[in-house]
Amino acid sequence: MMKAIVPTAGNGTRLYPHTHTKPKPMVRLAGKPILGHILTNFRATKVDEIVVVVGGPMQNQVIEYAQENYSDRFELTFVEQESPQGLGHSIYQAESAVRGDSAVIALGDMLFQNGYRTFLEAHDALSNVDGSIGLKRVTEPHRYGIASVENGRITELVEKPVDPPSDLAISGVYVIEDTGHLFDSLEHLLEKNRRGAGGEYQLTDALNLMVSQGSVLGMFKVDDWYDCGRPKTLLEANRITLEQMGTGASETSEGNVIIEPVDVGTNVTINESVIGPYVSIDDGATIINSIVRDCIVGRNTTLRDATLTESLLGDNSTVEGEPNSLNIGDNSSISISQ
Ligand code: G1P
Repeated sequence: MMKAIVPTAGNGTRLYPHTHTKPKPMVRLAGKPILGHILTNFRATKVDEIVVVVGGPMQNQVIEYAQENYSDRFELTFVEQESPQGLGHSIYQAESAVRGDSAVIALGDMLFQNGYRTFLEAHDALSNVDGSIGLKRVTEPHRYGIASVENGRITELVEKPVDPPSDLAISGVYVIEDTGHLFDSLEHLLEKNRRGAGGEYQLTDALNLMVSQGSVLGMFKVDDWYDCGRPKTLLEANRITLEQMGTGASETSEGNVIIEPVDVGTNVTINESVIGPYVSIDDGATIINSIVRDCIVGRNTTLRDATLTESLLGDNSTVEGEPNSLNIGDNSSISISQ
């Protein structure tokens, strides 16, 4: 049986301030949390059981959201990573739920234009492999896990190398037939205290150990990914996801101009405003006499007389007036155009 492992316990420091109040997978774009996009994507695959690795004081948000929205389709199992010691350590927590089955590991940083179904089909098309990893050519290989590949087989994997042996980056989707070998390798790293890049137990190191011990790992290409891990790229992911969702035509109504693609949640009030393109508005938001473009507006947030572009606005916040009521810290850079 093919199960999915979705680690959600990271700190998400690159998405502060949003990840002060919600775990990174609960940060929203295009009408859903990142986790929702991932789990929705799995609906079209053969995966029926999802093991979610949770951690930290806000883990209940993940558990409640997943149960409320996805228990109709999946058997959901939650395992806790009690302390953040890296991705390898996080995946190891899924051992008792997954050992003996095959698994697809889906990291939460990336959304893909082609979904997990495509990746699982690409894996199934490979012959005689113990697993396969989605790879993408990148321009900054030192920021990723990097694979060396010969004749379609992975020969070496190294996490965030100073001197990258190739530009083929691990894209955050892994298919493992032989999870026993993976968990043995992770256990070996933990037992021997073999911490890797960043002082953490790395999944990449365990996979490299598998390769060095004779596991055959193939690869498939991942062409389009959208990194949700940083504010600027999260807005890009929002734009592309809204475009894919293909929300209806632009319209003018009740004093508003809506320029699609726009996603509007429930109980949203919009008056005398120009919204779009590329705006996600969460449930309960109120937007009055404002111009909003290329933004993610959080739940129950109020915008009044505001002109905003390329902004991430959390839940329960208020922006009033042109930039005359901004509260900004040191070293800020503001561009005000009339
Ligand atoms: C993780 C993996 C890395 C991979 C990346 C893709 O790194 O360790 O191998 O390339 O995800 O998103 P992180 O982004 O958690 O530092």
